[in-house]
Amino acid sequence: MFMASRIQRRAFSASARQLSKVTVLGAAGGIGQPLSLLLKLNPKVTDLALYDIRGGPGVAADLSHINTKSTVKGYEPTPEGLAAAVKGAEVVLIPAGVPRKPGMTRDDLFNTNASIVRDLAKAVAKSAPEAKVLVIANPVNSTVPIVREVFKAQGVYNPKTLFGVTTLDVVRASRFVSEAKGTDPKDEEITVVGGHSGVTIVPLFSQSNHPDLSSNAEIIKRVQFGGDEVVKAKDGAGSATLSMAQAGARMADSVLRAVGGEKGVVEPSFVESPLYKDQGIDFFSSKVELGPEGVAQIHPVGQVDAAETTLLEAALKDLKKNIEKGVEFVAKNP
Ligand code: NAD
Ligand code: LMR
Repeated sequence: MFMASRIQRRAFSASARQLSKVTVLGAAGGIGQPLSLLLKLNPKVTDLALYDIRGGPGVAADLSHINTKSTVKGYEPTPEGLAAAVKGAEVVLIPAGVPRKPGMTRDDLFNTNASIVRDLAKAVAKSAPEAKVLVIANPVNSTVPIVREVFKAQGVYNPKTLFGVTTLDVVRASRFVSEAKGTDPKDEEITVVGGHSGVTIVPLFSQSNHPDLSSNAEIIKRVQFGGDEVVKAKDGAGSATLSMAQAGARMADSVLRAVGGEKGVVEPSFVESPLYKDQGIDFFSSKVELGPEGVAQIHPVGQVDAAETTLLEAALKDLKKNIEKGVEFVAKNP
């Protein structure tokens, strides 16, 4: 009798663990649609919830015909729809917000995207306070602190569950190096630290297979300003969407793998970090080991050379301002 109920309990908790609802806020956008497609193809996702201020149910109906096991549901653009979309989510991805046009910096998006992210964060804090929140909307260096402030104000902030998605910088660094060196990108793992805009993006080539690149201004600039290449080429029609969808899907998959108990899953991401707190910088992207609870361990930056030390100094200066801007926004516009 006792054995039977124990086995039953174990079976139940195993199946409960496998239920992973993933919500995309901004699901009908340039990133949202291909990201949702990739999530529909991920067997770890059991329920896919799609929300947007327009078009969520249409994208959901379309994706729901793909013959993978997960269920897909689109939600109406109402407060109730938003609450239901996030309720019970293991992971919430936020690509909602406007993208850049040529000539703009990511910081130029702040005025529009800060309030979008604040309002979505309020809904997540209320209906899914334990979800892992993956912020894609720019400027990431400021939108992530915005989410923290909203969660803090609601008394539900857990630093282990809040991530700014910087995976695209890592993806780009790997690809650009492979192009320069004629290698396979899968063999090129480049640590990228700092934040997600211009000089706050710091690739650490001294720690890679190609330490000679650590003072190669051209490739460093390409990693730091890779987003601009796409913005320019799209010529007013937006910024990176397809590569970002792949990067976002990779980050979500890593989080789900760690939730499922896999050990040693490491993804660089922009999290509340002790690394530069003594300089007043609360958030920093470095390699983060993931666990069932979200952030399990934040890796130090490690050894850097003189050129990278200079890059890091410039990054920290901008990062501090970007983070403060997000915090101040919520203080003034709660
Ligand atoms: P997009 O305009 O194509 O899509 C944005 C979507 O968000 C739209 O469908 C829109 O209806 C929706 N939206 C707007 N307000 C909303 C709200 N309050 N609730 C729900 N949905 C809302 O833009 P995109 O190309 O998908 O880019 C989205 C954001 O991602 C931009 O801010 C962009 O800068 C950023 N981005 C970040 C990275 C990164 O590496 N972190 C990479 C690329 C783009
Ligand atoms: C990127 O890096 O591609 C994104 O942050 C979008 C942008 O504005 O460049």
